[in-house]
This record gives sequence, structure tokens and C-alpha cells, in this order.
Amino acid sequence: QEDIFKKVISHAKEYGYIFQSSEIYDGLSAVYDYGQNGAELKKNIREYWWKAMVQLNDNIVGIDAAIFMHPTTWKASGHVDAFNDPLIDNKDSKKRYRADVLVEDHVAKIEAKIDKEVTKAAKRFGDSFDKDQFLSTNQRVLDYQNKATTILKRLGQSLEKEDLADVKALIEELGIVCPVSGSKNWTDVKQFNLMFGTKLGASADTATDLYLRPETAQGIFVNFLNVQKTGRMKIPFGIAQTGKAFRNEIVARQFIFRMREFEQMEMQYFIKPGTQKEWYEAWKEKRMKWHLSLGMGKENYRYHDHEKLAHYADAAADIEFKFPFGFKELEGIHSRTDFDLASHEKYSGKKLQYFDPELNESYVPYVLETSIGLDRMFLAVFSNSLVEEQLENNTSRVVLKLPAVLAPTKVAVLPLLRKDGLPEIAQKLVNELKWNFNVVYDEKDAVGRRYRRQDAVGTPFCVTVDHQTLEDETVTIRHRDSMEQQRIALSEVKGIIAKEVDM
Ligand code: GAP
Repeated sequence: QEDIFKKVISHAKEYGYIFQSSEIYDGLSAVYDYGQNGAELKKNIREYWWKAMVQLNDNIVGIDAAIFMHPTTWKASGHVDAFNDPLIDNKDSKKRYRADVLVEDHVAKIEAKIDKEVTKAAKRFGDSFDKDQFLSTNQRVLDYQNKATTILKRLGQSLEKEDLADVKALIEELGIVCPVSGSKNWTDVKQFNLMFGTKLGASADTATDLYLRPETAQGIFVNFLNVQKTGRMKIPFGIAQTGKAFRNEIVARQFIFRMREFEQMEMQYFIKPGTQKEWYEAWKEKRMKWHLSLGMGKENYRYHDHEKLAHYADAAADIEFKFPFGFKELEGIHSRTDFDLASHEKYSGKKLQYFDPELNESYVPYVLETSIGLDRMFLAVFSNSLVEEQLENNTSRVVLKLPAVLAPTKVAVLPLLRKDGLPEIAQKLVNELKWNFNVVYDEKDAVGRRYRRQDAVGTPFCVTVDHQTLEDETVTIRHRDSMEQQRIALSEVKGIIAKEVDM
């Protein structure tokens, strides 16, 4: 699995999808740049989401709020007080860890160790093996596992001082049973706020402290009445937005899964209080359908209902995706009650209420939120698409089987030879098609090698112009996934491709 993930990362670089940020200066950790193909794929995912949200729902509209917001926003949203990660430092190695991730790593190691022992013993004892009895001899380890699982459930935003002390004690104990970091010398666990600060204004004494937004949602909440009034929106209605968010992630690993600068695609759905359960279920289902519409395999998705809720939610679930490193959160669906709007009312002193013409009364709406990371969705699509196939003639090929609607380039036009007027016909076709799709022209190398290049970069169609084209105005169209080739009229090319790639 680790191997597959390494291949994903190197393929993303080799084919112009993702580069380490500021690579010539040895990079910046957990910050990435999208290359010529990555920018297109990312844009197509964003558009696919926007179309499903805004264009196809007549009661959802889109906005584009600023990254900078008034600093009181983040008091009201709870981020100043509660958007923290628990950190612990190792005094010997001087390394810093996220305490919850450290506990998780320990638990994973313990579980792997137990599994290994069980498998070994089962082999040794054969039919007479009694798993429960065997496990009871490992009681000490099991006790730690239980303790860790209990503490993990408590970890997160609602940590109290006593919890932090418990976590430290547990990390020390776990280190003895199953060392992860090789040392037992830890500092206390401290809460660390994840927001990036910056300053607005020129002179040091008049400058205002600002934050880079850690989520796009708050730009929607503060504009709730602006949009409702100017758009004459009736509840239920939604506001959608895509844009950058920033978090000073401490454990920034797993490539673009967890970044310090990333993009979110969020939608807040404003509803009547009391209807949140039905909308929560409806949006959970609707969002899963959106994912499945890309055809990346039903078995790669699952729901994870939260037991531990964030400070703003009365119900929450994740849609998890099977990444190369296992099932992990891809999207969150949160029932946020009136937490945000009521809190902004309190801090701003402005009413954020909706007048319901049917009930003839005003109320603060409840909010149902869907929130997905664009970069994380990119990683899901990209890693799921990359395959190495064994072919019949004992060779293999690397193919990026991106959903055709998302592929950066839709078609490559290839003259079979660089003579006899074939390049001119191919160029003419490129000039026609480029008004509708991203097209590339490629005349270098043998045609088989050109096909492989397009397979690896994920282009769903190749159209080849050959000598028969001169006689009857037909070309071959080759399908990336099946490698099938068909003879079609030049005039049919656009229609055939459009059928597959139009959103
Ligand atoms: N407004 C709610 C909110 O921001 P969240 O669960 O913190 O909720 C929502 O984030 C989504 O944003 C996640 O499901 C994930 O896809 C994405 N996301 C969060 N932090 C991220 C990071 N550091 N890097 C990349 N994506 C991230």
C-alpha cells in the first residue's frame, strides 16, 4: 500500500499534476502547487461540484467571499477558543507530535502486534487454537488498547485540563508497552490554535490582527441576510462557495490529504428549526450520490457517523473514501443548528433572522452543512485512477483512468506520419475541437508510444489521422480504458467525444 502511494506521488509529479511548493528552495512542508494538468483536473472537479450544487438546484446560489474577515468573526465562530490541536513534545528527540495522532499510532501498532501474535499462534496450535484464551494472556496489552480507545474518543476540541494530563500519562505508559518514538520523556500536553495570524495596516501600533480563514463557511454565515434579501430566497435555501482555507496543521503528512493551504467546497443549507434530522439524512444521501456518479466504485465509500461532536453540531457524519493509506474522511455533513447565526447575532448586535411568510413569524434558521476538501477530492480521484495493467503481449502499461468528465485533456490528435499532408489535417481538427475541449497535438515518436503517453496522463481519447483519411475523410478513435479503436467519420469526432465528457 505504501508502495502504491509512492507511485501516486511520483506519477503526479512526472505528469505535471502536483509539485512540491518552492521546490528549488527544498520545498515548504504540507504546501503544494498544481501543475499544468493538475490545475485543469482541480478546476474540473470544482466545476463538477458547482454544477451539481448551484446549477442543478434552483434554491442554491453561489458566492465568493473574501479570505480576510473581521477578527470578531472567529470569536463568534468558536475558532479562537476551540480550534485547537493537543500537542506534546518529546524532550529527548525535540520532536513535536499531535497527541491524538500519537495515541492513534500507538493503538495501530498494538493492534498490528496482537494480530501478528494471533496469526502465529493459530498456525502453531492448528485446530486446538482458542483465540479468546490466547488473547487473555495478552491482557496487559489489551488493557492499554481499551484505555487508548476510550481516551481517543474524548480527544479533540472539548479537551479539559484533566484530559490532557490523562493523555500524557497514557502516552508514557503506551511508550513502555509498544514504543513508537523510542522515548518516555514527554512535556505536558498543550492546546495549540490552528489559525494563521497576520496583520492589516501599515504602522505597528494601528495594525489590526487578522486571521486567514480556517474554513469558508463563515463567509456564508455573515452574508446570510444579504443573499436572502437580495435574492428573495425562501427557506429552505442554500448558499455555496469554493475557496482557499488555511490551517497550521502540525501533523502535515500524506501528501495533499492534509495541507496548510487548501481549498474547500462548502454549502450551507438554511432550514426551519426542527427539520434538521430529515435534511441531514437527505443531504447525506444526496452527497453520496454525487460521489457515486463519478463511477469510482461503490465499495470505495462508506459513512462514518460521529459520536464525538464538534462544538457547533448536533449530528455529523463523514463520507470516507478508500485512499491508498486506508479509509479516511473525504467530506463532512454537519447539522449545525443555529449555532453560527445565533452567535453572529450575539457578537455583532445585528439581527440575523428570517421572516417566514407562511408562519408569519421570524426565526434564526438552522443550518445543514456539506463540506468537502477540493484537494482531498483530487487525491481520491487521482489515486483511484492510477493503474498498472498487464497486457496480452507480455507488456504492461500505466494508465490514469480519470473519469472522462474530469480529465485535463479530452483528446489527443495524432498524425500517423509527419508527411503526406497528415499533420495539416490533424492541425485543422485540433483547431476545430479546441473551441469545445482541451486538445493536444502530438506528432513525435511512433504512434504506440504516443498512445502510452496519453494513457499515463489520463487523456480519454486519441484520434489518429492516416492515409485512409485522405481518401474517405475517416479517422480512428482510440478509447483509453478499453484500448479499442473504431473507424469514424471526421465529422463525427466532436459529437462522440462530447457525449462522454460533457458534465
Ligand atoms: N466548515 C466545516 C469544516 O471546515 P472540517 O471537517 O474541518 O469542517 C471539511 O473540514 C473538509 O475540508 C474535510 O472533510 C476535508 O475534506 C477538508 N480539509 C480539512 N482540513 C484539511 C487540510 N488540512 N488539508 C486538506 N483538506 C482539508
